[in-house]
Amino acid sequence: MTQQELKSAFEKIYGQPADGLYFAPGRVNLIGEHTDYNGGYVFPCALSFGTYLLIRKNGGNTVRFRSLNQPDAVEVPLDKLTTRLDNSWANYLIGVFAQFIKKGVKINEGFDILIWGDVPAGAGLSSSASLEVVTAYALNDQLKTGYDRTELALMSQKAEHEFALVNCGIMDQFAAAQGKKDHAIFLNCDTLEFDLVPVKLNGIKVLISNTHSPHKLDSGAYNQRVAECKKAVEQLNKVRPIKYLAELTEEEFKKIESAITDETAKKRARHVVSEVQRTKDAVKALRAGDILQFGKLMNASHVSLRDDYEVTGPELDTMVEEAWKIDGVIGSRMTGGGFGGCTVSLVKDEATDTFIKNVGSAYEAKIGIKPEFYIAEIGDGACRLS
Ligand code: GLA
Repeated sequence: MTQQELKSAFEKIYGQPADGLYFAPGRVNLIGEHTDYNGGYVFPCALSFGTYLLIRKNGGNTVRFRSLNQPDAVEVPLDKLTTRLDNSWANYLIGVFAQFIKKGVKINEGFDILIWGDVPAGAGLSSSASLEVVTAYALNDQLKTGYDRTELALMSQKAEHEFALVNCGIMDQFAAAQGKKDHAIFLNCDTLEFDLVPVKLNGIKVLISNTHSPHKLDSGAYNQRVAECKKAVEQLNKVRPIKYLAELTEEEFKKIESAITDETAKKRARHVVSEVQRTKDAVKALRAGDILQFGKLMNASHVSLRDDYEVTGPELDTMVEEAWKIDGVIGSRMTGGGFGGCTVSLVKDEATDTFIKNVGSAYEAKIGIKPEFYIAEIGDGACRLS
């Protein structure tokens, strides 16, 4: 959909033109998985696809929500904007309104809002974070509240916790808010300090493979991993006071891992500690121009997510294993929360066609689902378009 088509759709629905059109991107994470809520590092980039939001003040006492991706319209009175609805797509937006109100911002007038997004849903490319962040960015602009991008990301994360009931880390919302064209964000999820690292790779493409097996982030498995890491921290605290698993080097962890009596929690912790090290090493390699080393670390990340963190499954494993067989693949791994969704691969330009053909047919033959492939364009974070 073009911006003009979106504006016409708004006017058709609400009978008035929109005052503003905003955008926030989805993301793909290159390395550093399930490290964010453990105080570790991540290395995501914003994508060129994302969520668009059109808005106008309506002079009334309700906020009206429509989405071109959803059948139902939702209308919420101003005094109900801190209450979660049962089973509604609008919770992602209401959750963000709630964060503004909780900070003491007065919303005295209603809004008309229209949403449209082109992030494939359920693909693990953060369609929900892009929806939250575009809402936060638009409200910040409309209400002139002056929060910075990091604050908007934090408010969006809270919306996800309280209204989508996923205890996610900060990575997705941060990438949607702070992304920069042709850069990845090397983010310390404890301090929220970050560096933008150029990822314009000569002769190499970032290829995203969609398993079309929905990632079931809200199924409880994600929150279960968060809880297992917390358990590991609690047990480690008997021998060494730490707040986050990411505080430990691999060597330090080996010395005290026996304090974790729960075998599952121990495996989870081992993934986190090793993944943080891999992420730091990968960024160092990229900065030094050693893309082959970066790719090896991506592969090792997948193995650790498969064996220790156990968030891959047959679809993601097949997609990655088939990718590893292709000449010209520098590295390949699952990306995002896991249990389905997408993989990310670095592929030499001349190998991309073969990749799409061979990995596509092998995956379909084994899994029985037709996958989809996208060449990632790394774009900017949230913005006002008009
Ligand atoms: C999801 C969460 C993120 C992060 C990833 C795994 O995308 O929203 O906060 O934990 O999973 O790295």
